[in-house]
Amino acid sequence: MGTKLLIFVVVASMTVMIAACQSHGLQSGQTLFLENCANCHGVYAEGDGPASVDIGLPIPDLRYLAQSNAGIFPADLVYQIIDGQSDDEIHFPRRMPVWGYEFSIREGDDDAAESRAREKIQALTDYLQSIQQTH
Ligand code: HEC
Repeated sequence: MGTKLLIFVVVASMTVMIAACQSHGLQSGQTLFLENCANCHGVYAEGDGPASVDIGLPIPDLRYLAQSNAGIFPADLVYQIIDGQSDDEIHFPRRMPVWGYEFSIREGDDDAAESRAREKIQALTDYLQSIQQTH
């Protein structure tokens, strides 16, 4: 089999595999994080993504959210911060995109899009919970 054909077969079967995963619905929290957040927060959520330089202010290290809350991961608060659409959100001048809005717009801005946006934010919240450091 020629190299080109082999490459074609490999790429084609990967495409099918990826499509199979996507049709399963939600991307994993980690994938969502790498696609949407790592640019600022860094691949390991340490606050050192390439865009952090442009922002010119420190970007929070997201691995210590539990530690700075007496050891308990503040899941509801983290969800609200990521979502950004809630009135009870903590008050900082926000430089981060309002993800609840962002994800919903990208999905088509209807009710189904809103519910998918909520699932994504929940997956991101769970992912952040899974990477908390204790020391
Ligand atoms: C454009 C850069 C940028 C991107 C992209 C970004 N963030 Fe942020 N994030 C920030 C900045 C800056 C802050 C500090 C608060 C502020 O200025 O908005 C922050 C704060 C946070 C906080 C609160 C941390 C704390 O200590 O209170 C969480 C949680 C968070 N980001 C999660 C995410 C998630 C999840 C994504 C991806 C969906 C994301 N961020 C994408 C820049 C970004």
